[in-house]
This record gives sequence, structure tokens and C-alpha cells, in this order.
Amino acid sequence: MDTPYMTSIKIQDLTVWWTISLLALTYLLHRFLAVSSHLRHLPALPIFSITWSYICQEPDDVRFKRLIIPYANKHSEGVVLVWIFGQWTVHVVDPQIVYQVNGNITNFPKDIPPWDLLLIRFTGRSNIAMRNGEEWKSLSTIIREAFTTPIPIELFASLAKNLFHVINQTPLADDKGLKVRWNGLSQRFTLDAVGYSVLGYNVDAISTQTQFVKDYNMFMHYTNDPLYLALPIFEKIITRKHAFELVETLKKRLVDMLLAKRMDPGDDIVSFLLRDPSLTVEELRDNLSTLLIAGHDTTAGAISTIVYHLAVNQTAQQNARNEVIREALRIISPSSYGIPRMSQMATNLSKYYVPPNTAVVSNICGVHHSETVWSDFSGQSDS
Ligand SMILES: *[C@@H]1O[C@H](CO)[C@@H](O)[C@H](O)[C@H]1NC(C)=O
Ligand SMILES: *[C@@H]1O[C@H](CO)[C@@H](O)[C@H](O)[C@H]1NC(C)=O
Ligand SMILES: *[C@@H]1O[C@H](CO)[C@@H](O)[C@H](O)[C@H]1NC(C)=O
Ligand SMILES: *[C@@H]1O[C@H](CO)[C@@H](O)[C@H](O)[C@H]1NC(C)=O
Repeated sequence: MDTPYMTSIKIQDLTVWWTISLLALTYLLHRFLAVSSHLRHLPALPIFSITWSYICQEPDDVRFKRLIIPYANKHSEGVVLVWIFGQWTVHVVDPQIVYQVNGNITNFPKDIPPWDLLLIRFTGRSNIAMRNGEEWKSLSTIIREAFTTPIPIELFASLAKNLFHVINQTPLADDKGLKVRWNGLSQRFTLDAVGYSVLGYNVDAISTQTQFVKDYNMFMHYTNDPLYLALPIFEKIITRKHAFELVETLKKRLVDMLLAKRMDPGDDIVSFLLRDPSLTVEELRDNLSTLLIAGHDTTAGAISTIVYHLAVNQTAQQNARNEVIREALRIISPSSYGIPRMSQMATNLSKYYVPPNTAVVSNICGVHHSETVWSDFSGQSDS
């Protein structure tokens, strides 16, 4: 039976135990998160603000614009130390320094991120994005060749039609008018485009959302969790079993697609890669997952942002339309010259003396192609 005396001893024990644990944890965290001595001379973003940003699940660009860029600007620094991928990393914000780093693969070869990262589990480490030097060169040749296959314009146009159909079916009405959730739609549209062109497979993301699409989206959601990006070791501590299962499911799905394509090739990139008999299924799969993510995520983001900005600024939208139309009219003008004029009296046109009764024509085509007006004249298609 506990006497009051014994209980108080217990509480004291517990308090001491907790205090020691907390101190030890704080010390370990401090040791773990402190900038190591060989980097201490560099400007570092305070660990608390970064950690808070990760905890709040801030997306990269928001964190960069809110923390890193203002910090760099305020201190006039071209580089800032930032905690990411479980280590302090030098983030370069000065274009000259970027050039120095990216232009020197000998001194700055690519560093493979930790295997713990969910994304790396999916793409593997032997794909083109992670390779260096000669290996990278030979791989990029294969991929470049694969991309010389013609763009399936009709297919993309029909995907756009599907997209407009879905948009017309699902506007969300509110007091400000009709709205669509554009980021989701652009994401689905791009997945279909990449599915067809890279995998040669109808993912059907726009209209029906197959299991593959749901799994892929869920996987991307897990992949972009800022907490796990900041500390990949979390994957070992708070293991996301479902995420690992998803990775395996998706990889298996890619292999199934590969094997099916081997039987029934098309004019997609997978079929092109399959022509090289020396590649194993795993090698192909790793490159495929990389192409899938590289082709999808970035394109979906770009389309989403462009359309958003054109939607919120109708003036810019109108300008963009006008620009396209005007540029087309410039390259090949429907009418090459204007109606001739006849000078009525002696005139100086610039430094040229033109007597009376002289026919003068404005050469529209000539003006549209004058090198003195169009400085970036080269490379236009006006055949
Ligand atoms: C790469 O960097 C190293 C070390 O700064 C330097 O010695 C080398 O000349 C650089 N190479 C090139 C191609 O710039
Ligand atoms: C894919 O990855 C392997 C390495 O895993 C590589 O050797 C192979 O050439 C790669 N390229 C293509 C295009 O599949
Ligand atoms: C909209 O675009 C026009 C033309 O590009 C620009 O002048 C204007 O500042 C933009 N408006 C806003 C609110 O960004
Ligand atoms: C044209 O320019 C010349 C030289 O500047 C000048 O002498 C002449 O008067 C001008 N003629 C007319 C018609 O303006």
C-alpha cells in the first residue's frame, strides 16, 4: 500500500527522470541540428524558422520566398545554409555562383540523396537524373533519341477536348460566379499526356481516375511531405507503411506495363527503350519512373501556374492572345504591301529626297522582317 511519503518520492523520481531525458534530447537535437564547425563561417538560416516551416508543411516556393530569399537579400549573401535532406546544405541564390557550380561536374558531381527518401525508393538511384560523367552522357543520348519520336499532336488535341468536356461538366458555382479547380485538372490532363507519350498507356486520369492514378497521386502526396524531406530519417522512426506499399504497387504496375509493351510495342518512349535488348526490366523500370515523374510533376505545375496567372489577369490574357495573333501576322503578312501612294510635292523621307510624282509603297513584309526593328530576328520560322 502506498503511503503519501512513497508517492511523493515516486513523483520526484519521475520529475528527475523526465528532466534528464528532456535535457539529453535537447542536447542530442542541438548536436544533430547545429551547423558543424567546418561550415560555421557561412550565413545560415535559423534552424527554428526552417523547422517551423517544415512543421507547418509549407510548400518549397512559399518557404523560399518567405525565408530564404529575404534572408539572402537582407544580408546581401549569394549563398545561404539551409537544413534539408537531413543535413545543412549550401543554397546558392547568385547566378554567377550557380554557373560556377553547375559548370564544373568534376568538382561538383551530383550527390545522390539518401535512400530513405520515398522518391528515391520509386525512381531508384541508377537513372539518368542521378548519373555523372560518361554514364550520364551515354544515358542522355538514349533518352534524347527517345524524345526525337514525333509529338502526337492529334492525341494531345483530343486530350484537351476531354479536359474541356470535364470542365463544362463540373463548374462549382458560388456567389462570385462559376469556378473550376484548375490545379487538379491540369494535373490529370498532364498525367494522361505523359501516360500516352511515355508509357503508351491510357491512364485515363481526366475522365475516370483509375486505381493507378489514385495510387500515383497518393504517392506524390506522401513524397512531398516537407517533414520527411527535411529529415528523411523520419522514415525509419515514423514509418509510413502505406507509402512503402504504394511504391511497390506502382513499381510492379510499371513492370506489368513494360512486359505488356514488349509484346505489343507502339510509338511511345517505353517501346523505344525496349528496342535495346541489353537493358534489364529493373533498369528500364527505374528510368521509366524517373521519366514519369520528371515529365508529369513539372509540366502539371507549369501549366497550372500559367493558366492561373492568365485567369486572374484578363489584361495579360488578352495581351497574350493579341501577341500570338500579331506575331503570326508578322511572320507571314496576309498582305505584303499597302496601296501605292503618289507624292504631290518634293519631300524628304528621312535622309532621302523624293521628287514630286513619285510612287511610294509601304512594304509591310519588309517592315515585319527588318533587322533594325527585330533584333532577335534569327531562328524564326517563316518558310
Ligand atoms: C573546377 O573547379 C576546380 C576547383 O575550384 C578548378 O580547379 C577547375 O579548374 C574547375 N574546372 C572547370 C572546368 O572550371
Ligand atoms: C536505365 O538505367 C540503367 C541503370 O539502372 C542504365 O544502365 C540504362 O542504360 C538506363 N537507360 C535506359 C534508357 O533505360
Ligand atoms: C496584368 O497584366 C498587365 C499586362 O501584362 C500588367 O500591366 C498589370 O500590371 C497586371 N495586373 C496585375 C494586377 O498584376
Ligand atoms: C530636304 O533636305 C535638304 C537638306 O537638309 C533641304 O535643303 C531641303 O530644303 C529639304 N527639302 C524639303 C522639300 O523639305
